[in-house]
Amino acid sequence: MSAPVRWGILGPGSIAHKFAAGLQSAPDGQLIAVGSRDQLRADAFADQYGAPNRHASYEDLVADPDIDAIYVATPHPFHKDASILCLEAGKAVLCEKPFTINAAEAEAVVAVARTKGVFLMEAMWSRYLPVMAQVRQWLAEDAIGEPLVVSADFGFRANVNPEGRLFSPALGGGALLDIGIYVVSFAAMVLGAQPDRITAAAHLGETGVDEQTGVVLGYPGGGIATLSCAVRASTPHEARITGSKGTIALDPSWWKGEGATLKADGHEERVELVLEGNGYNYEAREVARCLAAGELESPVMPLDETVALMRILDEIRAQIGLKYPME
Ligand SMILES: NC(=O)c1ccc[n+]([C@@H]2O[C@H](COP(=O)([O-])OP(=O)(O)OC[C@H]3O[C@@H](n4cnc5c(N)ncnc54)[C@H](OP(=O)(O)O)[C@@H]3O)[C@@H](O)[C@H]2O)c1
Repeated sequence: MSAPVRWGILGPGSIAHKFAAGLQSAPDGQLIAVGSRDQLRADAFADQYGAPNRHASYEDLVADPDIDAIYVATPHPFHKDASILCLEAGKAVLCEKPFTINAAEAEAVVAVARTKGVFLMEAMWSRYLPVMAQVRQWLAEDAIGEPLVVSADFGFRANVNPEGRLFSPALGGGALLDIGIYVVSFAAMVLGAQPDRITAAAHLGETGVDEQTGVVLGYPGGGIATLSCAVRASTPHEARITGSKGTIALDPSWWKGEGATLKADGHEERVELVLEGNGYNYEAREVARCLAAGELESPVMPLDETVALMRILDEIRAQIGLKYPME
């Protein structure tokens, strides 16, 4: 086994806690450094997870010679600059979803990674869970025939806080970028990231960002995905793939699930793949695997797909009339 990946965390906020906790159950990763815009926040986070190196700026973090890879965990409008900062310093990057605010930003980040020859991957953590690997395997084995209809929802009920990341336009707020990316990414995993028709409707709330969004993706081969996301309504959290000879149903809440059921041609198969750790360890493990193998991107979440997903989100936002102040 290769030496564990030595991680730094950039932007020690809410999701960074989950990633740091996930690393504690990942034998192939170790938290070494924390970079915050504030020394006290870096110290507090590093103390909590036993990280020896703490930095009071992102610039100092990326210059740390003790780390191999950086997890970018700021709100989305800062993903592009933070990821480029890390890549320019030669550090491998795992960047939170949505990868950036829009496709142009995503292309810019990917271009730097490719020019510098440095590893880069989107932290769409669901993609790397064992149950999703099982779904991909069933699809590859043609277990349900040709996938034709994908449906998925992700909606939770939050209170409107105009200053908070979820509702503030300046912080890239709205359901689509925060959780719509999960359902779009799931559809892309099954049907591909190149739909030839996209139709969207949304309700923009009092702060101007989307609170409920519905999307239909149509594919050249006949596949259809019906997707929804919401930040003011708790939806059933279901995902299902129906093919020409059967169905795969993921257990709710599907994006963090352990179970799935395959029904095809009178046959039923049930899997329960219990998570090791909190689930965030799997994306770290995929980074470790890629780095050990000398791969510059992950075949599970290729960079061209990450950019294509952002193009889909751009088109949805154009249709629902959502533009961010930084664009
Ligand atoms: N994978 C998942 O399950 C999941 C779940 C939730 C969120 N996310 C994604 O993770 C990212 C971060 O979400 P979060 O909820 O963790 O965000 P958050 O707690 O609001 O912010 C994370 C950190 O970003 C840093 N930051 C840098 N510039 C900032 C600015 N101008 N305003 C606010 N914070 C700034 C702050 O750290 P310092 O100031 O200390 O540097 C802050 O603690 C988002 O892109 C989100 O979509 C993923």
